[in-house]
Amino acid sequence: MHQLFWLSVLFCTTFPIASGGVNEPQAVFNIPNAERNTNDEQASEKWYKFNSTIKRVAVIGAGPAGLQAAATFIKHNFTVRLFDRAPGPGGNWLYSDEVPVREPYPDAPAVEERWIPEELPASKYYNDGDKGLTLDSRWREHWQPRSIWNTLHTNSPAVITELPDAPYPPDHSWVISAHTIGAHVRAYASIHNLNANDKSSVHSYSTRVEKLSKGPDGNGWRLILKQLKKLEEPDRLKATWWTEDFDAVFVAPGPYTSPHVPEIDGLLQWSEVRDVEDASRFSVYHSRVYRRPDRYTGKNILVIGVGTSGSEIARDIAPVANKIYASHKEYADWDTLHPFQRRSFRRFPDETEFIPKISHFEPLSSLDNGIKDGKIVLVNGTVLEEIDEIILATGYKRSNPFHLSVLNETFGVEAVEAPPFDVFTGPALKYVHWTGHFIPDPTLAFSTVRPWTAGQYQYYGQAKVWEGTAHLPNEAELWAQYNSSRYNNFRGLFGTGPSEAIVRQYVTWLNNESLENGGRLVSPWPVQNWEVFAYYANQEWEQGYLSKENFTRFENIPDNQWTQKDIWDISVFEDEFW
Ligand SMILES: Cc1cc2nc3c(=O)[nH]c(=O)nc-3n(C[C@H](O)[C@H](O)[C@H](O)COP(=O)(O)OP(=O)(O)OC[C@H]3O[C@@H](n4cnc5c(N)ncnc54)[C@H](O)[C@@H]3O)c2cc1C
Ligand SMILES: NC(=O)c1ccc[n+]([C@@H]2O[C@H](COP(=O)([O-])OP(=O)(O)OC[C@H]3O[C@@H](n4cnc5c(N)ncnc54)[C@H](OP(=O)(O)O)[C@@H]3O)[C@@H](O)[C@H]2O)c1
Repeated sequence: MHQLFWLSVLFCTTFPIASGGVNEPQAVFNIPNAERNTNDEQASEKWYKFNSTIKRVAVIGAGPAGLQAAATFIKHNFTVRLFDRAPGPGGNWLYSDEVPVREPYPDAPAVEERWIPEELPASKYYNDGDKGLTLDSRWREHWQPRSIWNTLHTNSPAVITELPDAPYPPDHSWVISAHTIGAHVRAYASIHNLNANDKSSVHSYSTRVEKLSKGPDGNGWRLILKQLKKLEEPDRLKATWWTEDFDAVFVAPGPYTSPHVPEIDGLLQWSEVRDVEDASRFSVYHSRVYRRPDRYTGKNILVIGVGTSGSEIARDIAPVANKIYASHKEYADWDTLHPFQRRSFRRFPDETEFIPKISHFEPLSSLDNGIKDGKIVLVNGTVLEEIDEIILATGYKRSNPFHLSVLNETFGVEAVEAPPFDVFTGPALKYVHWTGHFIPDPTLAFSTVRPWTAGQYQYYGQAKVWEGTAHLPNEAELWAQYNSSRYNNFRGLFGTGPSEAIVRQYVTWLNNESLENGGRLVSPWPVQNWEVFAYYANQEWEQGYLSKENFTRFENIPDNQWTQKDIWDISVFEDEFW
């Protein structure tokens, strides 16, 4: 019976490669042959061939993705090192009252250069006030406290926000608090001996990857690492820099690495104004520093942006705030909004006054008296006054979490003509195959799927490829797949057709490879979870949005129709991590 089931999965599910149809890939990437590091011998082979055996693997990031990947790689007998800039595991779910250092105004470019001593290893002690920086700000700059607030609850049900082997308490609600998720992720880390207080040579917390480049002999990878330690004696921090070499590297720095600050005339000047009651704070700031409602008591608040951060923070402060305005872009009509956008509009508290986009902020005569006397002009000409604070709930952009010196070297290009870091720019990671492997050099791999749900398949696949029990196609075929509609369309909001397609793609590929080369078989997502999730989505997101059929419709649609627009309509959502 079991055998029959797998055979039907293997043979009934095929995956189209051909591009075309209504949804052409948005950006087709073709590296000129001269700039490619294509090995001629390899091109004639069917499968990608690694130059040497992979033993040592680095994992960057200890969130839900990195922890699962590290646990998987350990199980597959790789020698693993896990690095995270934060003082403990959890990723986005490591709650802290500390807030990130101030976001740049105007929006900074996605590339961040960091100072690295010339000779390594090296160490340095910091005292309070060195180079005008407090120790506190150095510490927060290093680990970048997360964007979650005290009362935050998930907008995903437990059944799709759960790591294996660490079940939530049986009486948990289906919408889980950030603190419960944090405890859950830490429990997962502990089960795998990866928590900060576990004695282990695997993990290194408070350790930021500053640079990733090819190893000195052109093989493998070299990481430049910086660890920051709070010393026993007060008022000192110790920084240590060193290098470690690896055969392969897995990268999971999270999707929301940098805040997005919109370009609005006059915002720059307003962003410099300090809060009149507390000079350590500003009157304009990004939603990622929001923690608690107390300071909003009796105030008039302008929230810019009506996504999840905007609506949920407005709900949190509504009981104490005097007035909440929410500024949004102009949308053609309600029906063209994504169900998540409609949900956010609906979740704003009743007392919210929705207002159009902001045209500009009138110049202030002084930076010392707060923003309350300032005038905010909306695109319809209305002037908004008497605002105490402005929360930019304008979302995030992907940025380069470390200096990735790889493209130029890998492609053999000397100069920095081609942007060396742009793997991370845009909604989807660039030059990365659907398996998460970096096409020019698949000893580098990324987390490119929703870690809670499809992560188990992707990280298992990466372990199998690196240990040799699964194959990647040759480089030409990797690029062909990358440029096909499979890569561009087979990602979408979890529970929609395209995201189901990627899971099926994994199940088929992994089980074919295991049957041929050894290793365990994997199961598709359990049917009982589909039902719970579909029920949740209809109650909490939008009625009629999800049905159990989203998970099965591929069985009834011939694969030559999979690129058609109606398959993707419901999932148009730029966020591949959902
Ligand atoms: C406010 C907010 C609310 C959210 N709510 C939900 C929700 O309800 N449901 C849901 O499913 N998802 C939600 N998400 C998405 C969330 O990102 C995912 O749930 C999940 O945490 C992604 O896991 P990850 O491991 O890929 O990334 P993360 O959890 O972000 O972990 C990445 C880790 O990489 C580390 N890192 C980054 N750069 C470096 C470096 N250079 N060196 C060393 N370490 C580094 C970071 O410190 C971090 O610990 C939310 C996101 C935000 C911002
Ligand atoms: N669990 C939770 O409750 C929770 C809470 C917060 C965040 N999250 C998750 O975290 C991720 C990020 O969410 P987010 O809300 O921070 O970001 P987001 O979803 O990107 O929303 C940003 C909002 O800002 C708007 N915007 C951008 N520039 C603007 C401008 N100049 N004027 C007016 N509006 C502007 C955007 O409009 P357009 O979309 O039209 O561009 C969008 O509505 C999402 O995955 C979300 O689900 C979850």
